[in-house]
Amino acid sequence: MENKIKVLFICLGNICRSPAAQGAFEDLVNKSNKQHLFEIDSCGTSGFHDGELPDPRTRKVALQRNIQLTHRSRKLKSEDLVYFDYLLVMDDNNFKEVISLTSDESIRKKVFKFAKFRTNQGSEIVPDPYFGNETEFQYVQDLVEDCSVGFLKYLGV
Ligand code: 4NP
Repeated sequence: MENKIKVLFICLGNICRSPAAQGAFEDLVNKSNKQHLFEIDSCGTSGFHDGELPDPRTRKVALQRNIQLTHRSRKLKSEDLVYFDYLLVMDDNNFKEVISLTSDESIRKKVFKFAKFRTNQGSEIVPDPYFGNETEFQYVQDLVEDCSVGFLKYLGV
């Protein structure tokens, strides 16, 4: 559908945070019967893990919420900046990286830190769990689920 809301979640490797965010938001959208309104994808600013499934730890904590992650890692491409309506980054490095790819203000306005949509007070970034343990992955999962609720509310659809 032409007028779907196109949402792209972006992190560094596209194997931990952005696939977790994609899965959490898709799950919420499906449970709200709003899947016809959205096109949802994720990618990374690096191509480090091109073609890989999400990190096993990411998949494990998502599965504990009955969310199966099947996304394959891919690198952000310049066309994404034009195609998607919302470019939702996880941290300040992702933000700087995406902003640096364009000087077009109408594109820059589409870039948001996803954690800005959290429903409670706290950090505005989704921290990189890659070098952490399961506690960090659990925290990311909780946070992206909460931010998904806040983002859907923000959209008002
Ligand atoms: P992500 O986590 O950006 O949330 O997917 C990372 C995954 C891989 C690496 C860093 C962060 N890495 O350095 O390979």
